[in-house]
Amino acid sequence: MKVNWISGFAFGAALMSVPALASAADAPPAFGMCKACHSVEAGKNGVGPSLAGVYGRKAGTLAGFKFSDPHAKSGLTWDEPTLTKYLADPKGVIPGNKMVFAGLKNPADVAAVIAYLKSL
Ligand code: HEC
Repeated sequence: MKVNWISGFAFGAALMSVPALASAADAPPAFGMCKACHSVEAGKNGVGPSLAGVYGRKAGTLAGFKFSDPHAKSGLTWDEPTLTKYLADPKGVIPGNKMVFAGLKNPADVAAVIAYLKSL
């Protein structure tokens, strides 16, 4: 969204009175696809698990979300190299997992999404 300085300021001032809406970082455009299934709020799972704090987490360990067996037993940890491979080809990295997503084809999108996940 492009806003001019005055309306941007007014928007920011309005947000300050509603702190819950302020987020750590702006989501990159590529994250729009992930939002269909993932929230970035802790404890709020959708079709997929919440991605709050996912960076550095062991795969399939978030309490309260029912992961598929292959995912839970993958033994992966969500660091930069693992996320880079997984987000480009989820089914290739964890065959049989239930994330119905073909993968991000553009490496720049992968990098932007990982930088965003780190900020959560
Ligand atoms: C159609 C729904 C869907 C979309 C779209 C989707 N995901 Fe997922 N995601 C899931 C599901 C379901 C799982 C759990 C997989 C399992 O248990 O087999 C998952 C798991 C994950 C995990 C592992 C979480 C953990 O705690 O182990 C990460 C990281 C992740 N997704 C990131 C993303 C990102 C980033 C995008 C966008 C580029 C995305 N997902 C798009 C449904 C989706």
